[in-house]
Amino acid sequence: MKSTNTVWHNATVTRERREGQNDHKGVALWFTGLSGSGKSTLAHTVEEALHQKGCRTYVFDGDNVRHGLCADLGFSTEDRSENIRRIGEMVRLFVDAGVIALTAFISPFRKDRQGVRQRVTSDDFIEVYCRCPLEICEQRDVKGLYKRARAGEIPEFTGISSPYEEPQNAELILDTGTTSLTDCVDQVLRLLGERGVINSGQLRAASGTGKTRG
Ligand code: ADX
Repeated sequence: MKSTNTVWHNATVTRERREGQNDHKGVALWFTGLSGSGKSTLAHTVEEALHQKGCRTYVFDGDNVRHGLCADLGFSTEDRSENIRRIGEMVRLFVDAGVIALTAFISPFRKDRQGVRQRVTSDDFIEVYCRCPLEICEQRDVKGLYKRARAGEIPEFTGISSPYEEPQNAELILDTGTTSLTDCVDQVLRLLGERGVINSGQLRAASGTGKTRG
Protein backbone atom coordinates (compact mmCIF):
# COMPACT_ATOMS: atom_id res chain seq x y z
CA MET A 1 0.00 0.00 0.00
CA LYS A 2 1.63 3.24 -1.16
CA SER A 3 -0.99 5.72 0.04
CA THR A 4 -0.24 5.76 3.76
CA ASN A 5 -1.74 9.10 4.85
CA THR A 6 -5.34 8.12 4.26
CA VAL A 7 -8.17 7.57 6.74
CA TRP A 8 -11.11 5.18 6.23
CA HIS A 9 -14.49 6.94 6.22
CA ASN A 10 -17.38 4.89 7.57
CA ALA A 11 -20.63 5.28 5.66
CA THR A 12 -23.92 5.85 7.51
CA VAL A 13 -25.75 3.88 4.84
CA THR A 14 -24.48 0.42 5.70
CA ARG A 15 -24.46 -2.79 3.75
CA GLU A 16 -27.27 -4.13 5.96
CA ARG A 17 -29.44 -1.14 5.12
CA ARG A 18 -28.79 -1.53 1.42
CA GLU A 19 -29.57 -5.24 1.61
CA GLY A 20 -32.78 -4.45 3.48
CA GLN A 21 -33.82 -2.08 0.74
CA ASN A 22 -32.91 -4.61 -1.95
CA ASP A 23 -34.67 -7.45 -0.13
CA HIS A 24 -31.75 -9.80 -0.79
CA LYS A 25 -28.15 -10.17 0.28
CA GLY A 26 -25.03 -9.11 -1.55
CA VAL A 27 -22.77 -11.96 -2.64
CA ALA A 28 -19.96 -12.83 -5.03
CA LEU A 29 -20.92 -15.65 -7.36
CA TRP A 30 -17.59 -16.69 -8.82
CA PHE A 31 -17.75 -18.86 -11.94
CA THR A 32 -14.44 -20.46 -12.84
CA GLY A 33 -13.46 -22.87 -15.61
CA LEU A 34 -11.75 -23.21 -18.97
CA SER A 35 -12.46 -20.86 -21.85
CA GLY A 36 -15.59 -22.23 -23.55
CA SER A 37 -16.83 -24.03 -20.41
CA GLY A 38 -19.97 -21.89 -20.31
CA LYS A 39 -19.13 -19.42 -17.53
CA SER A 40 -20.38 -16.30 -19.32
CA THR A 41 -23.54 -17.91 -20.67
CA LEU A 42 -24.38 -19.26 -17.24
CA ALA A 43 -23.57 -16.02 -15.41
CA HIS A 44 -25.73 -13.97 -17.78
CA THR A 45 -28.62 -16.45 -17.67
CA VAL A 46 -28.57 -16.53 -13.87
CA GLU A 47 -28.44 -12.74 -13.89
CA GLU A 48 -31.47 -12.60 -16.21
CA ALA A 49 -33.49 -14.82 -13.87
CA LEU A 50 -32.51 -12.76 -10.82
CA HIS A 51 -33.11 -9.45 -12.56
CA GLN A 52 -36.61 -10.48 -13.53
CA LYS A 53 -37.34 -10.85 -9.84
CA GLY A 54 -36.04 -7.37 -9.09
CA CYS A 55 -32.66 -8.40 -7.63
CA ARG A 56 -29.73 -6.03 -8.03
CA THR A 57 -27.11 -7.81 -10.12
CA TYR A 58 -23.99 -7.22 -12.17
CA VAL A 59 -21.90 -9.55 -14.34
CA PHE A 60 -18.16 -9.04 -14.62
CA ASP A 61 -17.00 -10.79 -17.74
CA GLY A 62 -13.36 -11.65 -18.45
CA ASP A 63 -13.30 -10.55 -22.06
CA ASN A 64 -15.13 -7.28 -21.29
CA VAL A 65 -13.05 -6.27 -18.29
CA ARG A 66 -9.93 -6.79 -20.35
CA HIS A 67 -11.16 -4.01 -22.67
CA GLY A 68 -11.11 -1.46 -19.85
CA LEU A 69 -10.12 -1.90 -16.21
CA CYS A 70 -7.57 -4.59 -17.09
CA ALA A 71 -6.66 -3.53 -20.64
CA ASP A 72 -3.02 -3.21 -19.57
CA LEU A 73 -2.80 -6.90 -18.59
CA GLY A 74 -1.87 -9.95 -20.65
CA PHE A 75 -1.97 -13.65 -19.83
CA SER A 76 1.29 -14.27 -17.95
CA THR A 77 0.92 -15.79 -14.48
CA GLU A 78 1.59 -12.37 -12.92
CA ASP A 79 -0.88 -10.55 -15.14
CA ARG A 80 -3.62 -13.11 -14.53
CA SER A 81 -3.05 -12.73 -10.78
CA GLU A 82 -3.32 -8.96 -11.03
CA ASN A 83 -6.43 -9.34 -13.19
CA ILE A 84 -8.12 -11.47 -10.54
CA ARG A 85 -6.91 -9.24 -7.70
CA ARG A 86 -8.46 -6.15 -9.31
CA ILE A 87 -11.71 -7.95 -10.02
CA GLY A 88 -11.73 -9.25 -6.45
CA GLU A 89 -11.48 -5.71 -5.10
CA MET A 90 -14.20 -4.52 -7.43
CA VAL A 91 -16.46 -7.39 -6.49
CA ARG A 92 -15.88 -6.69 -2.79
CA LEU A 93 -17.24 -3.18 -3.29
CA PHE A 94 -20.25 -4.50 -5.19
CA VAL A 95 -21.00 -6.99 -2.40
CA ASP A 96 -20.78 -4.14 0.09
CA ALA A 97 -23.24 -2.27 -2.14
CA GLY A 98 -25.63 -5.19 -1.61
CA VAL A 99 -25.37 -6.42 -5.18
CA ILE A 100 -25.30 -10.03 -6.40
CA ALA A 101 -22.01 -9.80 -8.31
CA LEU A 102 -21.46 -12.57 -10.83
CA THR A 103 -18.04 -13.10 -12.36
CA ALA A 104 -16.95 -15.10 -15.40
CA PHE A 105 -13.16 -15.38 -15.38
CA ILE A 106 -11.05 -18.43 -16.13
CA SER A 107 -9.19 -17.56 -12.89
CA PRO A 108 -6.96 -20.60 -13.37
CA PHE A 109 -4.86 -20.31 -10.23
CA ARG A 110 -6.08 -21.59 -6.89
CA LYS A 111 -4.16 -19.06 -4.85
CA ASP A 112 -5.73 -16.15 -6.77
CA ARG A 113 -9.25 -17.48 -6.24
CA GLN A 114 -8.39 -18.12 -2.60
CA GLY A 115 -7.15 -14.54 -2.34
CA VAL A 116 -10.52 -13.21 -3.49
CA ARG A 117 -12.34 -15.59 -1.13
CA GLN A 118 -10.36 -14.19 1.79
CA ARG A 119 -10.75 -10.59 0.70
CA VAL A 120 -14.50 -10.82 0.09
CA THR A 121 -14.77 -13.19 3.12
CA SER A 122 -15.79 -16.80 2.81
CA ASP A 123 -19.45 -16.21 3.74
CA ASP A 124 -19.88 -13.88 0.79
CA PHE A 125 -18.00 -15.96 -1.77
CA ILE A 126 -19.65 -18.74 -3.74
CA GLU A 127 -17.29 -20.53 -6.06
CA VAL A 128 -18.97 -22.33 -8.94
CA TYR A 129 -16.74 -24.63 -10.93
CA CYS A 130 -17.91 -24.97 -14.53
CA ARG A 131 -16.36 -28.39 -15.08
CA CYS A 132 -16.13 -29.11 -18.77
CA PRO A 133 -13.50 -31.38 -20.34
CA LEU A 134 -10.93 -29.63 -22.49
CA GLU A 135 -11.98 -31.79 -25.46
CA ILE A 136 -15.51 -30.39 -25.34
CA CYS A 137 -14.33 -26.79 -24.92
CA GLU A 138 -11.99 -27.32 -27.82
CA GLN A 139 -14.72 -28.87 -29.98
CA ARG A 140 -17.03 -25.93 -29.27
CA ASP A 141 -14.25 -23.39 -29.87
CA VAL A 142 -16.82 -20.59 -30.09
CA LYS A 143 -14.15 -17.89 -30.48
CA GLY A 144 -11.78 -19.96 -32.62
CA LEU A 145 -9.03 -19.41 -30.05
CA TYR A 146 -8.23 -23.09 -29.32
CA LYS A 147 -7.47 -23.68 -32.98
CA ARG A 148 -5.13 -20.72 -32.98
CA ALA A 149 -3.55 -21.80 -29.69
CA ARG A 150 -2.90 -25.30 -31.10
CA ALA A 151 -1.32 -23.66 -34.15
CA GLY A 152 1.04 -21.84 -31.78
CA GLU A 153 -0.45 -18.43 -32.53
CA ILE A 154 -1.59 -17.72 -28.95
CA PRO A 155 1.00 -18.35 -26.24
CA GLU A 156 0.14 -19.35 -22.66
CA PHE A 157 -3.35 -20.47 -23.58
CA THR A 158 -5.22 -22.05 -20.65
CA GLY A 159 -5.59 -25.80 -21.05
CA ILE A 160 -3.10 -25.91 -23.94
CA SER A 161 0.09 -24.19 -22.84
CA SER A 162 -0.91 -22.73 -19.48
CA PRO A 163 -2.37 -24.68 -16.53
CA TYR A 164 -5.85 -24.67 -15.03
CA GLU A 165 -5.93 -25.63 -11.36
CA GLU A 166 -9.27 -27.25 -10.51
CA PRO A 167 -11.07 -25.93 -7.41
CA GLN A 168 -10.77 -28.13 -4.31
CA ASN A 169 -13.43 -26.40 -2.23
CA ALA A 170 -15.99 -25.08 -4.70
CA GLU A 171 -19.46 -24.54 -3.25
CA LEU A 172 -20.93 -25.95 -6.46
CA ILE A 173 -19.60 -28.09 -9.30
CA LEU A 174 -21.54 -28.05 -12.55
CA ASP A 175 -20.75 -30.45 -15.35
CA THR A 176 -21.38 -27.87 -18.01
CA GLY A 177 -20.35 -30.24 -20.81
CA THR A 178 -23.28 -32.58 -20.13
CA THR A 179 -25.81 -30.70 -17.96
CA SER A 180 -28.39 -28.47 -19.63
CA LEU A 181 -28.18 -24.72 -19.13
CA THR A 182 -31.60 -24.71 -17.45
CA ASP A 183 -30.48 -27.35 -14.95
CA CYS A 184 -27.27 -25.47 -14.20
CA VAL A 185 -29.19 -22.22 -13.66
CA ASP A 186 -31.63 -23.99 -11.33
CA GLN A 187 -28.78 -25.44 -9.27
CA VAL A 188 -27.21 -22.01 -8.83
CA LEU A 189 -30.53 -20.41 -7.88
CA ARG A 190 -31.28 -23.17 -5.39
CA LEU A 191 -27.91 -22.64 -3.75
CA LEU A 192 -28.63 -18.91 -3.47
CA GLY A 193 -31.90 -19.84 -1.78
CA GLU A 194 -30.22 -22.31 0.60
CA ARG A 195 -27.65 -19.74 1.60
CA GLY A 196 -30.30 -17.12 2.27
CA VAL A 197 -29.06 -14.75 -0.43
CA ILE A 198 -32.53 -14.68 -1.97
CA ASN A 199 -35.76 -15.64 -0.19
CA SER A 200 -38.08 -18.52 -1.06
CA GLY A 201 -40.51 -16.28 -2.95
CA GLN A 202 -37.70 -14.94 -5.09
CA LEU A 203 -36.36 -18.45 -5.60
CA ARG A 204 -39.69 -19.68 -6.93
CA ALA A 205 -40.09 -16.69 -9.21
CA ALA A 206 -36.48 -16.77 -10.39
CA SER A 207 -36.36 -20.47 -11.20
CA GLY A 208 -34.86 -21.12 -14.63
CA THR A 209 -37.59 -23.64 -15.46
CA GLY A 210 -40.45 -22.01 -13.64
CA LYS A 211 -40.69 -25.20 -11.53
CA THR A 212 -39.95 -25.35 -7.83
CA ARG A 213 -37.83 -28.08 -6.41
CA GLY A 214 -37.44 -29.60 -2.95
S1 ADX B 1 -7.86 -15.10 -16.58
O1 ADX B 1 -7.00 -16.27 -16.76
O2 ADX B 1 -7.11 -13.88 -16.29
O3 ADX B 1 -8.91 -15.33 -15.57
P1 ADX B 1 -9.88 -14.05 -18.31
O4 ADX B 1 -11.09 -14.78 -17.86
O5 ADX B 1 -9.69 -12.64 -17.82
O6 ADX B 1 -8.59 -14.94 -17.99
O7 ADX B 1 -9.87 -13.98 -19.90
C1 ADX B 1 -10.07 -15.15 -20.62
C2 ADX B 1 -10.54 -14.86 -22.04
O8 ADX B 1 -9.51 -14.20 -22.76
C3 ADX B 1 -10.81 -16.16 -22.76
O9 ADX B 1 -12.17 -16.50 -22.69
C4 ADX B 1 -10.39 -15.87 -24.18
O10 ADX B 1 -11.48 -15.34 -24.91
C5 ADX B 1 -9.37 -14.78 -24.05
N1 ADX B 1 -7.95 -15.20 -24.16
C6 ADX B 1 -7.04 -14.57 -24.94
N2 ADX B 1 -5.82 -15.11 -24.74
C7 ADX B 1 -5.93 -16.10 -23.82
C8 ADX B 1 -5.01 -17.01 -23.21
N3 ADX B 1 -3.70 -16.99 -23.50
N4 ADX B 1 -5.48 -17.90 -22.30
C9 ADX B 1 -6.79 -17.90 -21.99
N5 ADX B 1 -7.71 -17.08 -22.54
C10 ADX B 1 -7.30 -16.15 -23.44
